[in-house]
Amino acid sequence: MIKANTIQTQHYSILFGVNSGKALDAFLDTKTYSKLFVLMDENSYEFCYPLLSSDSEKLLDAELLQIDSGEDNKSIEIAAQLWESLTEYGADRHSLLINLGGGIISDLGGFVASTFNRGMDFVNIPTTLLAMVDASIGGKTGINQGHFKNQIGLFSTPKQIIIDERYLETLPQEQILSAYAEMIKHGLIADADYYEKLSSVKLMKPKYLKAFIERSIQIKKEIVEQDPTEKGLRKMLNFGHSVGHAIESFFMNTDAHLLHGEAVAIGMLAEAYLSHEILKMPVHELKIIEQNTGFHFNHIRLEDSQLNDIAELVFHDKKKEGNSLNFSLLKQIGKCEINVQVTKNQIINSLKNSMYGFTG
Ligand SMILES: NC(=O)c1ccc[n+]([C@@H]2O[C@H](COP(=O)([O-])OP(=O)(O)OC[C@H]3O[C@@H](n4cnc5c(N)ncnc54)[C@H](O)[C@@H]3O)[C@@H](O)[C@H]2O)c1
Ligand SMILES: [Zn+2]
Repeated sequence: MIKANTIQTQHYSILFGVNSGKALDAFLDTKTYSKLFVLMDENSYEFCYPLLSSDSEKLLDAELLQIDSGEDNKSIEIAAQLWESLTEYGADRHSLLINLGGGIISDLGGFVASTFNRGMDFVNIPTTLLAMVDASIGGKTGINQGHFKNQIGLFSTPKQIIIDERYLETLPQEQILSAYAEMIKHGLIADADYYEKLSSVKLMKPKYLKAFIERSIQIKKEIVEQDPTEKGLRKMLNFGHSVGHAIESFFMNTDAHLLHGEAVAIGMLAEAYLSHEILKMPVHELKIIEQNTGFHFNHIRLEDSQLNDIAELVFHDKKKEGNSLNFSLLKQIGKCEINVQVTKNQIINSLKNSMYGFTG
């Protein structure tokens, strides 16, 4: 059992361990909205909406907006369709959009709500583990522009986040594993004790991971509150992502298509090597990270020429020419340093070591 609890941020509260339908009604009791809208994709409509609506009396009059699942739909075309639907159904600045779904729904819905009529309120009810511990928290909303992820968007916070862990029961296993990588990241950058406990979880099942959601949210919240618009400290959250994004792009549209979290897990491993090499993170900590990653995530093999391509992609991703890039690396497990200079050769070396050095 997860006990109901609240994390208070500067602008809104995050409720977890609650029945989302009842929690939503309690929130709506304190507000007067002209109209309610619920944004979903086909999966959150099928698996999550029944749970939400059966316990909410206030949703009876809500308009339902449904989009197809998938990253391609986090687009300006779909945003435009949603703005049109909102207009058609008579939404105004005093309406509320309820984002019921994964990170795609909270990113897109947050963006659509924040730009409609110069901004209407929105609430996030995340239904994937990734959205619970990461995407729905922190105020980043937006859409992709072609291949450029999250290129268009704004910082805008929801009025409330409601976390109902029952939604995790229908989530595919690979989605759980992918989110686990981001939770591991929270431990690595900010809390060694949390990292140790989380890495001792061997079975990727909601019932074993639920208890860790609160601490992950707290870590992200604390970092974001110190640097809401990513001028400095928030870059810690990019640990594993410089190399991870490049690996994700490299394997996109191939047979070995990797989920974001799987690519980040490999990225974290490469960046752990860099942390050891550049910031002198102790070698026994590197071994611990290596073992944990190897236990949960598939080993990938790369040819030497591919290592170079991936290192090039890291530079390309950051739109940077020249000899070095800024990374967020670990001084030790639980302590992260931002703006550490890394060269292309160091990236290639770290990939080489992390690809062949698995002990798992
Ligand atoms: N704003 C941020 O700070 C932030 C942070 C991290 C990621 N993101 C964004 O989040 C997105 C990824 O989020 P995601 O991993 O949640 O992906 P997603 O929204 O695509 O959800 C993953 C899949 O699970 C399905 N699904 C959702 N809930 C379900 C449930 N309870 N049961 C069964 N199936 C369910 C969805 O339909 C989808 O097919 C990316 O677009 C990424 O850029 C944003
Ligand atoms: Zn990520």
